[in-house]
Amino acid sequence: MVKNIKLKIGIVGCGAIGSSLAKAITANFRRHTVLAAVYDIKPEKSLALSRKLVKNARLCVNGLENLIEKSDLVIEASSGKVSWEIAAKSLSRGRKVMVMSIGGLTGHLEQLLVLASRGGGQVYLPSGAVCGIDGLKAANIAGISKVTLTTRKNPAAFAGVEYVTRRFKLSGLKKDKVLFNGSAASAVKYFPQNINVAAVLGLAGIGAAKTRVRIIACPQVKKNIHEVLIESKAANIFTRTENILHPQNPKTSYLAVLSAIATLKQILQPVKIGT
Ligand SMILES: NC(=O)c1ccc[n+]([C@@H]2O[C@H](COP(=O)([O-])OP(=O)(O)OC[C@H]3O[C@@H](n4cnc5c(N)ncnc54)[C@H](O)[C@@H]3O)[C@@H](O)[C@H]2O)c1
Repeated sequence: MVKNIKLKIGIVGCGAIGSSLAKAITANFRRHTVLAAVYDIKPEKSLALSRKLVKNARLCVNGLENLIEKSDLVIEASSGKVSWEIAAKSLSRGRKVMVMSIGGLTGHLEQLLVLASRGGGQVYLPSGAVCGIDGLKAANIAGISKVTLTTRKNPAAFAGVEYVTRRFKLSGLKKDKVLFNGSAASAVKYFPQNINVAAVLGLAGIGAAKTRVRIIACPQVKKNIHEVLIESKAANIFTRTENILHPQNPKTSYLAVLSAIATLKQILQPVKIGT
């Protein structure tokens, strides 16, 4: 960081992740950053967040373009339906962008690279609610034969997921039920809010088409559990992450928010730890 110049941050999406990040930025990163703007498609949410943080509406902007204008770093915490558009527009204007709805970027990696190198921007994709991305990236250099993600969640986490409601009746479920078995590319399509971890594993490793995903509804489980199995020429890796749910959104894991905060720390600190 250049001395005395603070990184201006704009947050798109004022739900569980966006609000938690905004609070962390204003509480813990004031020396190096300033929260410049917040935007939500539901204006009442950005207004409530701004009032909570600065006691008035001055952080609110009335559109994505205005938020990008005011920011050096745009943090997307909204929806996979718009994350690619937000990343593309931010990069085209030379901004840095951190994307949480990573599923929306599937298939756009090449374009991201082109846009970032053309405009001088950068893209940050936090590991989110899964562990093992560090080993996956390193092992990928030697060659990986297999990446498998097994996700277990309480049936409540799948409420409103069309792929599930059309095929399964989960109310009153007594035993574990496999809801999906296929590629990360399809998992991201059918479970857009549940499976950003599949997207990040695909991007960091052998691609979304080759990364295998199993999603299981488990009535006894109260946490979001992600197991990752990696077989490679360098190492065989197995990680299991038992995620505590975010109090504002049971589809989101608390660790995902902390991962974004840790990524922000990594951006700001001169010493970068971890792969
Ligand atoms: N990378 C990960 O590991 C990980 C983990 C959990 C969640 N996520 C993703 O992060 C995103 C945010 O999660 P959350 O738990 O905060 O969700 P949330 O539902 O609590 O909040 C999302 C907010 O974004 C707003 N929004 C939706 N579409 C918008 C748009 N087009 N423009 C502006 N605002 C918009 C909504 O009104 C809402 O306030 C989701 O897409 C989720 O899938 C990623």
